[in-house]
Amino acid sequence: MTPDANELRTIAAQAIVSQSQPTVTVLSSLLAVEEELGYIPKEAIEAVAEFTHSTINDVWGVASFYPNFRFSPPSRCQVEICWGTSCHIMGASRIAQAAMRALGLEGEGETGDGEFGLRFNTCLGACAQAPVASVGHALKGRLTPARTEQMLRDLSRAAQGRGHG
Ligand code: FES
Repeated sequence: MTPDANELRTIAAQAIVSQSQPTVTVLSSLLAVEEELGYIPKEAIEAVAEFTHSTINDVWGVASFYPNFRFSPPSRCQVEICWGTSCHIMGASRIAQAAMRALGLEGEGETGDGEFGLRFNTCLGACAQAPVASVGHALKGRLTPARTEQMLRDLSRAAQGRGHG
């Protein structure tokens, strides 16, 4: 279940007050929220402003300055295709094509329903099992294009089933 505005506010406030470092700043508070929720909802901007005695504009200023913050919820399932040297030699580009085909994407990005995010990674640390992908934090090695496509289509179907269930 996606948290509602009140829950987001509570989760953000908890992340902000739980910071253990001696100096708590707008930036450290935003990082704490991002770490907890995976993104910065507007409720968290308000909570950070309140806690650090800053204005909402100031907090937005800091948040929008750093390109790594995201302001919408992350996809439910992050798919990372390794593009490093070992994987490249073992056919990473065909794995990437298969993943894009299965997810209906033309490159890195997110599916329209927010279920899947696709990214390319420079090394997933399992070069001996190349070509490798990480699917929802689980490493999948020695992939073939057919296996990749099948796996992602199955996951996609399962996600659609959840959406209608
Ligand atoms: S190059 Fe792909 S896991 Fe290292």
